[in-house]
Amino acid sequence: MDRIVVTGNGPLNGQIPIAGAKNACLTLMPATLLSDEPLTLTNAPRLSDIRTMSDLLASLGAEVTALNDGRVLAMSSHGLNNLTADYDIVRKMRASILVLGPLLARMGRAVVSLPGGCAIGARPVDLHLKALEAMGATLDLRDGYVHAEAPGGLKGAMFEFPFVSVGATENALMAATLARGTTVLKNAAREPEIVDLAQCLQKMGAKITGEGTSEITIEGVDRLHGATHPVVPDRIELGTYMLAPAIAGGSVTLMGGRLDLVAAFAEKLRATGVEVTETSEGLQVSRPNGRVDAVDVTTAPFPGFPTDLQAQMMALMCTARGTSVLEEKIFENRFMHAPELMRMGARIDVQGGTATVTGVETLKGAPVMATDLRASVSLILAGLAAEGDTVVSRVYHLDRGYERVEEKLSAVGALIRREKDDG
Ligand code: UD1
Repeated sequence: MDRIVVTGNGPLNGQIPIAGAKNACLTLMPATLLSDEPLTLTNAPRLSDIRTMSDLLASLGAEVTALNDGRVLAMSSHGLNNLTADYDIVRKMRASILVLGPLLARMGRAVVSLPGGCAIGARPVDLHLKALEAMGATLDLRDGYVHAEAPGGLKGAMFEFPFVSVGATENALMAATLARGTTVLKNAAREPEIVDLAQCLQKMGAKITGEGTSEITIEGVDRLHGATHPVVPDRIELGTYMLAPAIAGGSVTLMGGRLDLVAAFAEKLRATGVEVTETSEGLQVSRPNGRVDAVDVTTAPFPGFPTDLQAQMMALMCTARGTSVLEEKIFENRFMHAPELMRMGARIDVQGGTATVTGVETLKGAPVMATDLRASVSLILAGLAAEGDTVVSRVYHLDRGYERVEEKLSAVGALIRREKDDG
């Protein structure tokens, strides 16, 4: 198992390219199941989660070819020959549940294992199932699998999500494109990944309006055709690397970054005293000399502050002047990075979904353990600001969502290396 060693060495300067969004790509890939014509994605990120989704699609009989060093994914589902998404692949990644809606919509039947994924709370899939049931699917849960059927095809329906779910909105949106009649999804998620999915489906011939608002209307069509679509930039990778100069000092341009993708986050960052400027190349982030100011943060669905940037923001707050209160509203049990940051000298008090962080002058390098994807990168960010070596183990979490993190940070002057852990 690999580990990453970070040695705090002062300000970072230069450019970091932002990849295509993992979470967008993970929902765009299953969209290939909706058509027997090819779907090609460009600007795909090169991540282990993307390989897991490729394996899952291949296990169903779809063809997935990675071209241009993995930047382009050429997919075709004309030879689909298996409607069962097996536990062995699904358990690796929760987003696997996103094959359910498309398979059911096009094939009238699907069997999908209940998913695993990051250990951040219970994370059920009941909303995915309820939305599909509203469209006429019959569902049976047995032996850890969802057995779904819609022999005469899905039917358009009005469905209101009791609370916002990104994945359930994506599953329902994809399924509704091939349903008979009109579907209205209320209290739908508004994340940029949903908009990206809707735009791709529109290129494939789907009739969708209202994407990016909380009410999406889908008029079902008989079939979808092929398309080529570029994956939207990864706003979580963007926000993560915006925090690198914020925590270590310096000035870094995030190439291809867009302010509209991270508006709420950028506003909080500016409130700490960090400068964020949109340029023709991307987003430039600079920290003037001295410590940043503490700010309070509450996570919320888009356009609010993303839960996927909470751990990284906490790393910055650990070195801020003053006390900040971080409230996690999306997931229970998403403060597993806090005890690890405390090993580095951070002062954090966690009570339920609230963490109170009192900034310290300096963090100290320590051996720490990554417990989930975003937690692991928060430890690397903290390491950039710490004295001495921070050794982050279990970095397979990191590889699920960040491509070449050590190359990207080295390029702006960080001392960071990957080591093989033989222990
Ligand atoms: C997606 C993202 C993840 C991000 C999250 C919230 C992908 C692959 N992952 O996850 O990185 O942290 O959005 O922005 O895109 N819930 C239920 N029942 C359901 C579905 C969800 O109770 O059927 C709950 C979840 O446990 C959670 C909340 O709803 O507490 C939001 O989850 P959701 O928006 O569905 O997250 P994901 O789509 O899994």
